[in-house]
Amino acid sequence: MDIQAQWDAAAAGWNRQSAVIRDWLRASTDAMIGMAGIRAGSVVLDVAAGAGDQTLDIAARVGPNGAVLASDISAAILTHALANAQAAGFANVATHQADLEDLALDDAAFDAATCRLGLMFLPDPLAGLREIRRVLKPGSRFCAMVFDGPQANPLLRILMGTALKHAGLPPRDPFAPGGLVSLGKPGLLDDLFTNAGFHAVATTQMDAPFRLRSTQDYLAFVRDGAGPILALLAGLSADQKAAAWADMEAQLDAFQTDDGWIGPNSLLLTVGQA
Ligand SMILES: C[S@@+](CC[C@H](N)C(=O)[O-])C[C@H]1O[C@@H](n2cnc3c(N)ncnc32)[C@H](O)[C@@H]1O
Repeated sequence: MDIQAQWDAAAAGWNRQSAVIRDWLRASTDAMIGMAGIRAGSVVLDVAAGAGDQTLDIAARVGPNGAVLASDISAAILTHALANAQAAGFANVATHQADLEDLALDDAAFDAATCRLGLMFLPDPLAGLREIRRVLKPGSRFCAMVFDGPQANPLLRILMGTALKHAGLPPRDPFAPGGLVSLGKPGLLDDLFTNAGFHAVATTQMDAPFRLRSTQDYLAFVRDGAGPILALLAGLSADQKAAAWADMEAQLDAFQTDDGWIGPNSLLLTVGQA
């Protein structure tokens, strides 16, 4: 399944899980918006915008004199982003379907850019970064949020490893392009930003644990919206899928505590100046 089909299929589920995602990424999203230098009146490009949860926060920050263009490769997920913006009363949000490696936007058109949990899916992240830098005004900033490496992200290790095993596929190099934790290798994202021409590049690590009632709540989120995991299991029979989910659940139960289910998650936020 190609990446566009994967996220077209997961679009409704990712949108349904907006409340979980919003709680999970609250602090890191605020940090991303701050690091990108977004202020009242800014014209912002939000790439791999998905159902637009962070787009709404950016729209609030830029206010009526600013604007946000939410761009994504999946037309299906952008219909949710636009509907969410309209329902929240933001007239300053528009959408644009494009592959982030080929944005089809004018040079130097934006005051800032953001990408929340999208850059790691690119087959060629350097090409994507060059494209983002091209559409930014010189001196403006781009901030990307990606997953940290596999050692810092046991949930992703469990989900990917178990899905691959049940799909009958061999383990994958976690740092191969396109993988969930592929940009989590220390220093890699900084090097890519610098090679794409960004200046003043810096990375901040942030913990963003899931705080839910139970393993089932986390699995409900994954089963609804986690495009890459769903794509791996898509070809299995109902019984095979049930076995895969049960295997994941047994491993994820290790994170149940007396205070609920607390799943560790580590993020990297990298900023650079165009
Ligand atoms: C994990 S979702 C994140 C969505 C949103 N930024 C959020 O944090 O809620 C990843 C998004 O990246 C998009 N995506 C993946 N590859 C892309 C590409 N090459 N160009 C543009 N968008 C892409 C997917 O369609 C999906 O909407």
